[in-house]
Amino acid sequence: MTSEEISEAELDEAVEQAEPPTLEEPLPEILPVLPLRNTVLFPSIVAPMVATTERAKRLVDDALASDRLIVTVASRDAEVAEPAPEHLYSVGTAVRILRMTKTEDGAQRLWVQGLRRVEISAYEQTQPYLRARVKAVAETQVANLELEALHRNVSRQFAIVAEGSQTVSEPVRAMVAQLQDSSALADVVAANLGLAVGDRQALLEMVDVQARLERLSEHLAREAEVRALEQEIRSQVQEELTRSQREYVLREQARAIRRQLGEYETQTEQVEELRRRIEAAKVPENVMEVAERELGRLAVQPPGAMEAGTIRSYLEWIADLPWSKSSDDTLDIAGARLILDEDHYDIEKVKERILEFIAVLKLKRDLRGPILCFVGPPGTGKTSLGRSIARAVGRKFARLSLGGVRDEAEIRGHRRTYVSSLPGRIIQTLRRVGTNNPVFILDEIDKLGADFRGDPSSALLEVLDPEQNSAFSDHYLEVPFDLSKVLFIATANVLENIPPALRDRMEVIELPGYTEEDKLEIARRHLLPRQLAQHGLTERAPRITDAAIRAVIRNYTHEAGLRNLERELGKIARKLARRVVERGGESAATLDAGDLHGLLGPAHFEPEVAGRLQIPGVSVGLAVTEGGGEILFIEATRMKGKGELKITGSVRDVMRESAMTAVSLVRTSSANLRLDPGLWSTSDIHIHVPAGATPKDGPSAGIAIVTALASLLLDKPVPPDLAMTGEITLRGKILPVGGIKEKILAAKRAGITHVLIPAANEKDLVEIPPDRISDLKIEPVERIEQVLQIVFGRDVWV
Ligand SMILES: Nc1ncnc2c1ncn2[C@@H]1O[C@H](COP(=O)(O)OP(=O)(O)O)[C@@H](O)[C@H]1O
Ligand SMILES: [Mg+2]
Repeated sequence: MTSEEISEAELDEAVEQAEPPTLEEPLPEILPVLPLRNTVLFPSIVAPMVATTERAKRLVDDALASDRLIVTVASRDAEVAEPAPEHLYSVGTAVRILRMTKTEDGAQRLWVQGLRRVEISAYEQTQPYLRARVKAVAETQVANLELEALHRNVSRQFAIVAEGSQTVSEPVRAMVAQLQDSSALADVVAANLGLAVGDRQALLEMVDVQARLERLSEHLAREAEVRALEQEIRSQVQEELTRSQREYVLREQARAIRRQLGEYETQTEQVEELRRRIEAAKVPENVMEVAERELGRLAVQPPGAMEAGTIRSYLEWIADLPWSKSSDDTLDIAGARLILDEDHYDIEKVKERILEFIAVLKLKRDLRGPILCFVGPPGTGKTSLGRSIARAVGRKFARLSLGGVRDEAEIRGHRRTYVSSLPGRIIQTLRRVGTNNPVFILDEIDKLGADFRGDPSSALLEVLDPEQNSAFSDHYLEVPFDLSKVLFIATANVLENIPPALRDRMEVIELPGYTEEDKLEIARRHLLPRQLAQHGLTERAPRITDAAIRAVIRNYTHEAGLRNLERELGKIARKLARRVVERGGESAATLDAGDLHGLLGPAHFEPEVAGRLQIPGVSVGLAVTEGGGEILFIEATRMKGKGELKITGSVRDVMRESAMTAVSLVRTSSANLRLDPGLWSTSDIHIHVPAGATPKDGPSAGIAIVTALASLLLDKPVPPDLAMTGEITLRGKILPVGGIKEKILAAKRAGITHVLIPAANEKDLVEIPPDRISDLKIEPVERIEQVLQIVFGRDVWV
């Protein structure tokens, strides 16, 4: 015998079909008893149940055949399959069977209507089913305000509990709200609360309606609390769910992005891949230790964490550096000689030194020793020599431009505490090159700056010091990197600007600049063929005459090196290429100086000196700038005035003072020069150094300023082929100056044939190959009167 819990759908149907219980109906004294194993039926409700045992089916059949009335009573022990009287409670419910249908498996499905509480006084029969003597239990119900209050309270409490409940149907709720009878209300609520069998039975047995309502109120209050708690838990769960769903979605998106970027699927994959790469890079043991530590840290980072990105890029740097990757040297002197000659014209001394260097490298196989440093004006082949050396010894070529580097961290990197930190440029360059023994040009080492961010030259010292550079420490890497196999070569425009500590480590090789003849040769052999080839003109190019090249050198460039010459030749090649294309492959047979105007436009530079020196008050000085040696025009003029001096032309302090000294000297020499002493108080003097924007400084224009002034005041022009350099004192003594070689070469380039230099500089002339200056007249001078007599004739000075 069994019964079923009330299911929602069935109850809906049942409630709607229920006839109101007729409480006053007299009950027979003896009724069949149907035991219920796990529920209690209440009066006033309609409920479904199923009869499966033979005993129960027999009982139902008999009841259906008579008045349909039976008594249901709960078993104290749900485990007993066919409960006997001793298993059963003594209070049950008289019910009427409303409907019976047979199920396919032979069970009976019943709908029963609860009628009233009954008490079993004695069992009359146990076979074939239980029958007992019963009597109706009288309920006590005093209609007072308290009961009414309780009634309303239970009704409201039930409404609240039912509100969020899935098991209480809408018709039941409506019914509870409308029920007037407190006992019926109590029973319906009790039936719908999902209480344990014991609790239900206790409620069934309570004859005092008020007490029953009170008990129900307690149950309802607890239920409400439980519901609220459930609600809270459910919404927490919901929240938790939405949050984790959000994260899930974001993570999926992040992964999609990473996949797009070709990154790894999972952290573990990533860690393993990095480990593999680092092992393949054959890092030193101490580096592997650090790498392992970082790999371990990466493995435990939540994916997408910023820290993970930082660690990963660190490990990628470690993986990508050429810890043990070297190229093999080809140390064959004859071959090296060929390569150097192929790339560079002349500069014999430089090539000799490079070949010696290679020879030592071959014998010693290490690079301890001074660092070569090529010093010279732009375009003299410093960088390209580095490239040639790399080619000659079969190493990779790397170049790091130090121009404007002011921060130590640029050389040595930033500590990893910065999110965007990177290794310094030495390490960056090595990663790019991919070998640990390249020829490494430290270009323009004289342009290094230093400021509050630290002195980059101290970091460079460590780079270049063979005692230290086998364990070069980059702030970012933290682990030492061996730079001892790198062949460093430095370049500079001006030796004086190299930080002294660095200069001490270097062997300086000078590339002072080229004469017009050199340039013509280099253009013929190297620059022009290269430019023509680059523009696809190797076969179609016209014959370019020497006069044309010379004209390019003289009228379109103005430099010690070859940069602009190469650029102008490139421009010619470009124009020629266009003409060839436009004329269907035809090109003129030759290109002469006269054709240049059409290709390069008007000349940039006057055919120097000659034209400008025809008026008195102009002289030619010599200077050394970043661009190498240069000639410098000095102009002097005078106006009516009160003896003021004006100096213009981006002249800096030392040169300004030198000009003032020159004026004073000329003034005190008025008598010797037979000048009108009154002119100084009635004239203003203006000294100008043209070629305007470039700043000019230094004392070496002294004698040229004196000469310009004398020329002005004597009204005698300076000979057009004469230039001079030398510092002047107030007493007319001439002091030595720097850069004699560059200055003389510059003068020669400018077409000057006669140069005055301080006598104390005569010794510097040995630096210049004699054949370069064989056609120059170089005259050492000691005093100003000597200068003026050479320039204006012996009798100018008395
Ligand atoms: N002696 C030379 N023979 C052939 N070409 C040269 C020579 N010197 C310089 N060049 C060429 O001149 C150009 C400028 O040289 P580069 O090495 O850039 O000069 P720098 O580094 O001294 O400023 C390059 O194309 C280089 O090949
Ligand atoms: Mg260079």
